[in-house]
Amino acid sequence: MLEVKDLKKSYGKKAVVKNVSFTIEKGESFGLLGPNGAGKSTTISMICGLIPYDHGEVLVSNHSVKKSPMLIKQKIGVVPQEIALYPTMSAKDNLLFWGKMYGLTGSVAKKRAEEVLEFVGLKDRAKDRIETFSGGMKRRINIGAALMHEPELLIMDEPTVGIDPQSRNHILETVKRLNEKGMTIIYTSHYMEEVEYLCNRVGIIDDGEVIALGSQAELCNRLAGGSVIQLIVENKSDEAIDAIKQLENVSQILHTDETNQLEVFVKNPHDRLGEIVSTAVHQGMKIVSVDIKEPNLETLFLQLTGRSLRD
Ligand SMILES: Nc1ncnc2c1ncn2[C@@H]1O[C@H](COP(=O)(O)OP(=O)(O)OP(=O)(O)O)[C@@H](O)[C@H]1O
Ligand SMILES: [Mg+2]
Repeated sequence: MLEVKDLKKSYGKKAVVKNVSFTIEKGESFGLLGPNGAGKSTTISMICGLIPYDHGEVLVSNHSVKKSPMLIKQKIGVVPQEIALYPTMSAKDNLLFWGKMYGLTGSVAKKRAEEVLEFVGLKDRAKDRIETFSGGMKRRINIGAALMHEPELLIMDEPTVGIDPQSRNHILETVKRLNEKGMTIIYTSHYMEEVEYLCNRVGIIDDGEVIALGSQAELCNRLAGGSVIQLIVENKSDEAIDAIKQLENVSQILHTDETNQLEVFVKNPHDRLGEIVSTAVHQGMKIVSVDIKEPNLETLFLQLTGRSLRD
């Protein structure tokens, strides 16, 4: 369905997307996970043909985005990170407007707008102006606008940022249903939980580069150290950290000067916990809390970059 090859983009001297490559099969739900400024929106804008790329190629169903922009616009629906709706127009009129951009008019467009309103659960608010909607409702209409022309590939850029949990769940369920009906999905987020729930394959992007790509199971298996034991201590000392590093099955310890937190990467954390804690205490560290984190996309990101997804 989609092939992204060696995509590059710079603004001035700053390279913001460096060699991004991935492919997506028809019917897949692909998650692009990365922190603020990683290059998610820039990558998506290049895939949709909204901004030109400096290098590389994007193929949608084997058609180049550069050579056949109109054909590709019909195949793709984009839900932008910023709400793109007219506040003084009604929900239905906004949908009709977006439908018209894709050549939908008359009774066909009206029928489609009603279907979309029903699908996003806002049929009863069809005639209300967008400016009277809650943040979550605006997000749902924003998604609806991208669905008007029944795209084969739906690309969503952080569609749940800044909204209440109820709207968030509604959106996640909507995306799940669309994928179950056969629509191919690209879902960008910096929320690991959302990507874990929705996506069968994941690309982790950081500083303009895809640093991990595969199914969730494949990615978690890559975690050399297995799980993470997180220790919060009152006083950190290099001696204590070195002593823990020497223990069996400990592969890596991450910590920064700013926090009193240690992330100890370890196999079989439940077996090793006692020894790690007693070594820390023996070395004079006072432990405030202990938490075991099983391998997941968040701990993988931590291991690959030394940072958490949401700093
Ligand atoms: N038009 C632009 N001019 C200059 N720099 C830009 C422009 N657009 C994006 N950038 C820079 O490119 C980098 C990637 O931005 P991008 O918006 O793609 O990140 P993102 O992963 O979508 O982040 P977020 O999660 O905050 O939305 C950032 O450093 C950003 O400042
Ligand atoms: Mg973005």
